[in-house]
Amino acid sequence: MTLPKHIAIIMDGNGRWAQLRHKPRVFGHIKGTRVAKKIITACSRKGIKNLTLYAFSTENWLRPSAEVSFLMNLLRRYLKKETENLVKENIRFSIIGDISRVPSDVKDAITKAMHATSKCTGLNLVFALSYGSRQEITEAVRTIVAKVAAGELAASEIDESTINGALSTYPTPDPDLILRTSGEMRLSNFLMWQAAYSEFFFTSTLWPDFTEADLEQALEDYSGRQRRFGAVLTNDENLHH
Ligand code: FPP
Repeated sequence: MTLPKHIAIIMDGNGRWAQLRHKPRVFGHIKGTRVAKKIITACSRKGIKNLTLYAFSTENWLRPSAEVSFLMNLLRRYLKKETENLVKENIRFSIIGDISRVPSDVKDAITKAMHATSKCTGLNLVFALSYGSRQEITEAVRTIVAKVAAGELAASEIDESTINGALSTYPTPDPDLILRTSGEMRLSNFLMWQAAYSEFFFTSTLWPDFTEADLEQALEDYSGRQRRFGAVLTNDENLHH
């Protein structure tokens, strides 16, 4: 089975899962965190090299402030509780996104977790937090333009690798597989540049119900796909048709 080198997941449907049970939305986020933990371990044990989880988008700041602070607290508690385990599993933790708006106690927890796991060589686990692809690209443009203005780079020298190198995901390879739960079929400002040749897997399962078996199914599905990156296949069968 061909394993993706990088899986990116949009963990969607926590709110609906809770509402279906007549519980407050945050109940879904608690269960969602437990599922995230399980899927992180599963990816690590399978030998996946990179896993990016969309934990909080730039648009999520528009949610009611009680839900926002609940999510922030959940993240802080998760990091505090899990760091030791991440080290044990040889998982390196980092984040992408604009964390300037993140409360300082959460920032501290992030810094600590990143520091503690910085020498780990197994799974590269990335939380997209206060992340938005348009913002990321805007920031990359600013960085590149500043270099041009300073005379360090000629406009004619700008190519795809210049842009790639200025994105927050660098040097992580582009996601091979993007998975979204809860039946929504859109990218929602997630890794738009990086998704150019990603395979997509959508499931109607809500994130709190997502299991290792669902992950397995996504991996099997991925494994059966032919990726051509816009080119043609070069095997004999293709040459003869
Ligand atoms: C989408 O469900 C989920 C989020 C906005 C947050 C994702 C966060 C977690 C799974 C928990 C935090 C993660 C970790 C690893 C600490 P939704 O609220 O948009 O659901 P809905 O579409 O049904 O309203």
